Amino acid sequence: MHTMFGFLGRFVWLLSVVISVAVASDDGPQFYTAGVAEFRPAIMGATSQQLLESNLAGYLELMHSGNGTTDIIVFPEATLNTVLTLTAVPEITDQSLCEEQPGDDPEIAPFLRRLACAAREYSTYLVINVKERSPENCPTGTTCSNRGYNIFNTNVVFDRLGAVVSRYRKWNLYLEPSTNRTESPELATFGTDFNVTFAHFICFDMLFYTPAQDLVERLGIRHLIVTKMFNSELPFLTASQFQQGWAWANRVNLLASGASVPRSGISGSGIYAGQQGALTRLMITDEMEGQRKLLLAKVPLNPEDQILTDEILEPEKTSPIKLKLLQQPELDKFATWELPMVQESSVNKRICQKDLCCEFQISWTLVESLSGYSYRLGVWVGERRYEEEQYSAIRLCGLFACSGANVESCGLIGEQQGHPVMFTKLQILGEFVRKPRRLIMPSTLGSSNLYALQPSQLIWSTEETDNLTRIKMELRQPHSQLMTFAIYGNYFDEYASGGAGTVEAITLGALLFLLITPLTMMHLIWE
Ligand SMILES: *[C@@H]1O[C@H](CO)[C@@H](O)[C@H](O)[C@H]1NC(C)=O
Ligand SMILES: *[C@@H]1O[C@H](CO)[C@@H](O)[C@H](O)[C@H]1NC(C)=O
Ligand SMILES: *[C@@H]1O[C@H](CO)[C@@H](O)[C@H](O)[C@H]1NC(C)=O
Ligand SMILES: *[C@@H]1O[C@H](CO)[C@@H](O)[C@H](O)[C@H]1NC(C)=O
Repeated sequence: MHTMFGFLGRFVWLLSVVISVAVASDDGPQFYTAGVAEFRPAIMGATSQQLLESNLAGYLELMHSGNGTTDIIVFPEATLNTVLTLTAVPEITDQSLCEEQPGDDPEIAPFLRRLACAAREYSTYLVINVKERSPENCPTGTTCSNRGYNIFNTNVVFDRLGAVVSRYRKWNLYLEPSTNRTESPELATFGTDFNVTFAHFICFDMLFYTPAQDLVERLGIRHLIVTKMFNSELPFLTASQFQQGWAWANRVNLLASGASVPRSGISGSGIYAGQQGALTRLMITDEMEGQRKLLLAKVPLNPEDQILTDEILEPEKTSPIKLKLLQQPELDKFATWELPMVQESSVNKRICQKDLCCEFQISWTLVESLSGYSYRLGVWVGERRYEEEQYSAIRLCGLFACSGANVESCGLIGEQQGHPVMFTKLQILGEFVRKPRRLIMPSTLGSSNLYALQPSQLIWSTEETDNLTRIKMELRQPHSQLMTFAIYGNYFDEYASGGAGTVEAITLGALLFLLITPLTMMHLIWE
């Protein structure tokens, strides 16, 4: 039975190689087919083993819905097993993990084997995230941990036959007290039979230089994968907005798979092709439960290849936002200016804070019969601390929606969610200081659906001078649903040497990106 199956799997694999080669010989852009899952984990009302079974069944169902059409499928962070249902994860294997081999680690859990079999069944690369049990650094007799093993937050990648081809253990942990960290950061990459080299990392990693930017800038990887459980924050860091901006600024393809727990502010998945924007994306904003959905896209082998995209991906919804959003905690430190709510007007405004100056040119009209969001222009240079020794210097400027008259109301969803202001011209010119390790991205929200502007709506250009980067960002066409239109610069480690003393501690309550195990989530949500 197994032999038959193995033979069949290999046959399917050979067939797909033939198909890939056939595609590669075509003229014009070449593609692979990728799927990312937006996945609602089962998190309560059963034993941990039953929850695992339920999640596994959900994974298999989504893989089945792809009908074997995918080259690669990605599932999100922390939506499969928990610290109570750990598995060992080999670093790499010669054989498929589907069948047990002599000498295999007995701690490899059946669910991991089942997913290896599924990768083979659908002949697809498969990326999942698990809680890993590892005996490493725990030689008998030492007290590396009183439990006798380490727990890692780990991505595992299977090839089309179910062999492990890559493993990555999360470096930038976030509120994960039971989880260990490797001694040094891992740079995890893998090659594929369609001539694409991927690198992968996990959620909070995307806010830091190591390993995410190392993979892009030092290793030159153009296809990145991130598994996420990301808590969205207005106005600049909602999940899909951040994914799209990150892929745009790095000019890479990004496959982002997100956990779906909107009642905790967690949702957001998509596939993005550099400055060609989103190919598919999903934010669950209007319900509490979350969804299980496989988003598929044909992804260009070269993220710079001009491709035809269906630009307007989703209709504007008017249903109220139920996704529980965080708010940028330091808005009161921004230098801001409130846009007067007057009919037909234009302003030119230059606003500076510390070493950042931004020039705004705006024209708008007002539908006075509508009540709803007003707007502020803001510039901010400051440090943002996430955790003990993790912080970034932020330089940003932009326009953002406010639900009331003061700056503390910006980044809050208004009760009356109308958009009375139609922008007929909107241009920002930012003068950002040059530093070696930074990422400056567009941060836009073109609707209360919380999706970023697509390239047909946005002009973005950069010009380097001796000590400044001038960034020009402009609306291509009038827009009447804007929430955010900003340039967001993450200066990763400006304060890393010696500046730590100036970083103000921010209370845990104000922290971003709750990356929590389903177990802790249970407590957070229902306690
Ligand atoms: C898979 O097959 C079903 C039934 O034929 C079809 O409805 C669905 O669209 C297919 N999905 C993909 C991704 O091709
Ligand atoms: C792993 O984490 C546990 C729990 O926080 C801790 O007790 C242990 O010392 C850690 N192990 C290593 C090798 O750091
Ligand atoms: C694979 O990619 C490399 C660089 O991306 C390219 O030089 C090479 O021609 C490609 N090979 C095939 C078979 O397409
Ligand atoms: C930028 O460079 C110019 C000319 O090289 C110099 O005059 C100016 O002081 C520099 N500004 C900063 C902020 O370093």
